[in-house]
Amino acid sequence: MKIQGKIIWITGASSGIGEALAVDLFKAGATVILTARNEKKLNELKAKLDDVEQGRCHVVVCDVTQQKAIDQAMEKVKQLVDRVDILINNAGVSQRSYVLETEIAVYRELLEVNFFSAVAVTKGLLPWMISKGGGHIVVISSITGKYGFRMRSGYAAAKHALHGFFETMRAELHDQNIGVTMICPGRVQTDVSVHSLTGDGRQYGKMDKGQADGVPVERCARIIVRAIKCNRKEVFIGFGERFLLVVKRVCPPLFYWIVNRASPT
Ligand SMILES: NC(=O)c1ccc[n+]([C@@H]2O[C@H](COP(=O)([O-])OP(=O)(O)OC[C@H]3O[C@@H](n4cnc5c(N)ncnc54)[C@H](OP(=O)(O)O)[C@@H]3O)[C@@H](O)[C@H]2O)c1
Repeated sequence: MKIQGKIIWITGASSGIGEALAVDLFKAGATVILTARNEKKLNELKAKLDDVEQGRCHVVVCDVTQQKAIDQAMEKVKQLVDRVDILINNAGVSQRSYVLETEIAVYRELLEVNFFSAVAVTKGLLPWMISKGGGHIVVISSITGKYGFRMRSGYAAAKHALHGFFETMRAELHDQNIGVTMICPGRVQTDVSVHSLTGDGRQYGKMDKGQADGVPVERCARIIVRAIKCNRKEVFIGFGERFLLVVKRVCPPLFYWIVNRASPT
């Protein structure tokens, strides 16, 4: 798939992976629609991209956990562009709390932002996308969408749920020209740990060592763009995490020994 000339809607574009993706896709010739809650940050990114070329970057502010806000965003997108070729469901919030200390309300919030938001934005867009001849849905899951990891119980549950939903959707809609790419990064150098939720719903506020030592965000974005171009079904990012997946398959006892002891921070 060529990126040049495509119209791409990215949620969670105000920082981290979403921001890096917006820059890369814009540079590759796409028109990008940037969505998140932080309008100031989105406008700063838009100004940077407008300096390169006017008219290929739009801002649509939206809290993707709110259905009404999604409906309004959808209307705004339809006014701005005549179609969306690619939707990147990237908005997300991680978790730093153990099962025993996590309130149910926090689990609900993690599922809202990491799972239901992607379902709601996708379902809002799909009829229009299909009426325009099809398109592609990219889902930024996580390696925790493949195996559980300490202090990530709600986050891992939401990311696992994404695979169930979007793999089913791919099977149902392949004959309507709707493709799905699932992206499963391990640790990437972003502020995701800083923004994570603790057991009582407050922000964790710290940069974890594991995060700081992760894959550079620009490299992560490059891998995701390549995956979109090649229409890959599922992609894993991060050497250690990919290695653990292989260990899980070939030597489960060793996998559980490692994962029970791996540092969650
Ligand atoms: N970094 C990693 O190690 C890693 C690993 C695996 C998967 N991921 C996934 O990658 C995605 C991006 O994370 P990141 O690492 O780039 O973290 P990040 O820097 O914290 O970015 C998260 C993005 O999600 C947006 N967001 C959060 N809640 C939202 C809401 N209710 N409505 C709209 N936007 C919302 C944030 O924007 P606002 O605050 O402005 O709304 C921000 O743009 C997430 O889905 C995350 O789970 C990250």
